[in-house]
Amino acid sequence: MSNILEQISEKEAIALEDKYGAHNYHPLPVVLSKGEGVYVWDVEGKKYFDFLSAYSAVNQGHCHPRIINALIEQAKTLTLTSRAFYSDKLGVAEKYICDYFGFDKVLYMNTGAEANETAIKLVRKWGYTKKNIPEDQAVIVAVERNFHGRTTTIISASTDPVAKNNFGPYMPGFEVIAYDDLDALDKALQNPNVAGLWIEPIQGEAGVYVPQEGYLKKAEELCKKHNVLLMMDEVQTGVARTGKMLASDHEDVKPDLLILGKAISGGAYPVSAVLANDEVMMVLKPGEHGSTYGGNPLAMVVAMEALQVIKDENLMENADKMGQLFRKRMGELSEKSDLVTLVRGKGLLNAVVINDTEDSDTAWNICVALKENGLLAKPTHGNIIRFAPPLVITEEQLNACCDIIEKTILSFEK
Ligand SMILES: Cc1ncc(COP(=O)(O)O)c(C=O)c1O
Repeated sequence: MSNILEQISEKEAIALEDKYGAHNYHPLPVVLSKGEGVYVWDVEGKKYFDFLSAYSAVNQGHCHPRIINALIEQAKTLTLTSRAFYSDKLGVAEKYICDYFGFDKVLYMNTGAEANETAIKLVRKWGYTKKNIPEDQAVIVAVERNFHGRTTTIISASTDPVAKNNFGPYMPGFEVIAYDDLDALDKALQNPNVAGLWIEPIQGEAGVYVPQEGYLKKAEELCKKHNVLLMMDEVQTGVARTGKMLASDHEDVKPDLLILGKAISGGAYPVSAVLANDEVMMVLKPGEHGSTYGGNPLAMVVAMEALQVIKDENLMENADKMGQLFRKRMGELSEKSDLVTLVRGKGLLNAVVINDTEDSDTAWNICVALKENGLLAKPTHGNIIRFAPPLVITEEQLNACCDIIEKTILSFEK
C-alpha cells in the first residue's frame, strides 16, 4: 500500500463501487487516494486542487499534520468508552467548545444530520415543558430549499423532490415557508405552537444562496418577540468557512441552538455538536437522547485540535481575504464569458451560476473539464457550481485556480 502505483486502477475502483455499492451518489469520475493541504491525488498520481473540501469538512486542509497526530496519539490510548462511563476527554472537549462559541452546554453527536435531529428534539421538548405547547402540537418552521441531512424526519421538511419523494410517510410538525422572506416569517411565527425556526445562514447545498443583509438579524428579533428558538444549522457554513467563525457572525446573530458538524473535526473523524444555553439543554434527561459514538475520546481530541488549528492558522481571516479575491476574479470572468451569469457567496463558500437551463448538463461538463485541467468541483443543483477550497489556500494557489477556471470556462464559449 505504500507505493501509489500498487493501488488499484481508476477503472477497477469505479467498477467495484458500481457493482457493490448503493448508487446513492453521482460522483465525478476521479478516484482519489491521497490528500495534503489543498491538494488531492488520484490513483494514477495526478494532482488536483480540491475545490469541494468534502462539502466544507476539510477547512483545515487534507491530512493536517496536527489533527492527524492528535488522532494517532489518542487512537493508541483510548478510542471509545460509550457514555455509560465518564472519560477524561469528554468534559475537557465540552468546556473547550462551549468557551470557543460562547454557550453554556454542548451535546456531541457524529454526523450533521444527527446534530439536526438532536436540535429538533431539544426544541420540541423545550416547547412542551417551557412554552407550554399542547402535547404533540409543536411546530418547527423550516424554509424552502433547506438542506439539513437525509434522515426521514429531516427530509419531511425538505422541498427537494429528489431528497423527499418515495420516502414517506413524512414526520408532521413542520411548516415550510419561503427563505429570505421576512413577511412570511412574521406570519408563520404568530402561531403560538411554533417552538423553533430552523435555518441555514447561507444555503450551501441548495447552491450557496445568501439571504439579503439584515434577514438573519430580523429573524433573530422575530424569534425573540414570539418566544421561538432560533436553530442555526452551521454544519456547512461554520468554522471560518465564510470568513467569520460562524456565518451568523456576519450579522451579529446569536442563535439559541447552534448546530455544527463537518469542519469541527477537520475531515479526520465524524464529529457534530449542538450548543445551547442551560434553559434549553437542561430539558434533556438521562436516557432521552444519545449515541454510542457521540462524544467518544478519539472524536473529542480530534475536534479540539481541529478547532485550535482554525485559530492558530488564522483561517477565518484567510477565508475572508481569499474569498474576496476569488469573487473579484470570477466577476472579471463573467464580463468575458456569457456562460457565467452570477457569482455569489461569502468567504470561501462561493457559487458560480452557469447560463443554461436547470436540467442542462453544462455545469457537469464544465466540472469534468475542470477535472481534466487539475481542479475538482461539483455542481450543486443543476447549473450551479460550488467552489469551496480548503481555507489554507494561499494567494498564489488561488490565482492559479482562478486561471484554471477561467481557461476551462472560456473553452466552452462557442
Ligand atoms: C447545512 C447542512 N446541514 C446538515 C448536513 C448533513 O450533514 P451530514 O452529511 O454529516 O449528515 C449538511 C451536509 O451537507 C449541510 O450542508
